Amino acid sequence: MITLNVNIDHIATIRNARGGSEPDPVAAALIAELAGATGIVCHLREDRRHIKDRDLRLLKEVVQTKLDLEMAANEEIIQIALDVVPDLVTIVPEKRQELTTEGGLDVRANRNKLRELCKQMHDKGIEVSLFVDPNEMQIEESYIVGADMVELHTGEYANAITEKDKNEQLNMLLAAAAFAHHSGLKIAAGHGLNYVNTQAICKIPNIKELSIGHSIIARAAFVGLARAVKDMLQIIQINSKT
Ligand code: PXP
Repeated sequence: MITLNVNIDHIATIRNARGGSEPDPVAAALIAELAGATGIVCHLREDRRHIKDRDLRLLKEVVQTKLDLEMAANEEIIQIALDVVPDLVTIVPEKRQELTTEGGLDVRANRNKLRELCKQMHDKGIEVSLFVDPNEMQIEESYIVGADMVELHTGEYANAITEKDKNEQLNMLLAAAAFAHHSGLKIAAGHGLNYVNTQAICKIPNIKELSIGHSIIARAAFVGLARAVKDMLQIIQINSKT
């Protein structure tokens, strides 16, 4: 069975919109685990736009399943990862202006840096996953630099509009998963997966884990909204004088 790692970044996005402490992504992690998530993912970005250093440190304390720290191969964040020691780091390219991670890593162009990063993480017992496009060359390079896992970027598939384009992207993911499996790498997939497009991804052999954030947090707002309104109405009714 494929396991589900839940990305809680956007609970932090909502919290940060008001600069206070609610909703707390650490509490979200515990609820996700109670509901059956097999891992918690957070992305400590250079600009700290959602997850903050405090969140990561508390997540390390409380997460009981598996803590996957998404991060750029950036010196400051590498030092934080080595200090906090999550179970897994997923290395992504990061651009300051992007809304979300826009593409897979160029592993070949960053070969030396990534090889060194894998070694540093392994010395601390941290597994390394590289976020790559479904491209054989990048997967082979991931193996060469010493990664344990690749996370296949499903963003192009998720963005495909026509059936032809979707099928083309699915076939690329299928071939990439087979190639990565053959190379001895563990395989995850993620980005842009929702309650519809995840179905076909689950049918790809050898994918073991999915990393999903936005669609789950978005659905949580809707499936929880009616209850939240009722709770507030009840408080108003109980406390109203007239
Ligand atoms: N995997 C990686 C490497 C990501 O960068 C992201 C976005 O933070 C995700 C998975 C989750 O993507 P989404 O929020 O679209 O589900």
